[in-house]
Amino acid sequence: MNSDKTSSTDGTQQDEIVGHIPDDPLTGHAYDGIQEFDNPLPGWWKWMFIGSIFFAFPYWAFYHGGAEGRTVEARYDQALAANIRLQFEEIGELKLDRPTVLKYLYEPSWLRVGQTVFKTHCVSCHGADGGGLVGPNLTDDEYKNIKDIGDFLNVLQNGAAGGAMPAWKNRLSANEILLVSSYAASLRGTEPASGKNPEGRTIAPWPDAPSEDAEASKEAESPEAESPEAESPEAESPEAESPEAESPKDNA
Ligand code: HEC
Repeated sequence: MNSDKTSSTDGTQQDEIVGHIPDDPLTGHAYDGIQEFDNPLPGWWKWMFIGSIFFAFPYWAFYHGGAEGRTVEARYDQALAANIRLQFEEIGELKLDRPTVLKYLYEPSWLRVGQTVFKTHCVSCHGADGGGLVGPNLTDDEYKNIKDIGDFLNVLQNGAAGGAMPAWKNRLSANEILLVSSYAASLRGTEPASGKNPEGRTIAPWPDAPSEDAEASKEAESPEAESPEAESPEAESPEAESPEAESPKDNA
């Protein structure tokens, strides 16, 4: 059983190959004995090609003509800013205090928002991964102006070293300051590509995440949280008298 493939390798099948000439029209000229079929591109293809040439001029003028805010990068930044504003509506205006910095240190999805602030405003001095450039390394255990996690807020709002670390309170919103503080704190213990030598004093590790109990009692303190629970039938069950349920009184 000789298949076409095997028989064509022995060089005796030339006639057969030549015999496959389609009956398309020829252009009528030959180069070194090679003849050319007259197979023009389909009309739709040619018109798309011509159309794309004309499309290129307004496209170029629009995106690359130098107008503000039209480049892909600028549009990305605009979309990002719009998205952050949307997300901020979800959390409202955050309190600039120590418990809130600590709380958001343990909320990875919000740390990512802090990270976008950091990428925009801080990397020029602290490095893309916080390893430190002009500003100190934020990934080690040594700090110059920070003894406790709450101190980030002060440094961020008011700056440090006479403005070498700029004050951000008039340039960033309260939420941005808070989330970038938590993000800067979260850089501690990460491995930068190239870390600057430690500066300042070694400080104690960040406190653990606020415990579930603390959260629960905080919620119980707010007026909204009390009513539905008290009226539900479960509230009369023995579990309702568990220590958690009594914690608000303990805290008071
Ligand atoms: C113009 C450069 C510059 C920019 C931009 C900058 N920093 Fe700094 N930052 C510094 C310098 C310099 C210091 C050290 C101040 C000192 O010597 O006390 C510092 C200190 C800090 C510290 C305290 C570190 C320590 O060891 O005490 C934190 C936290 C910090 N910066 C976070 C940020 C964040 C977050 C941003 C972005 C919102 C930012 N910085 C933007 C220059 C900068």
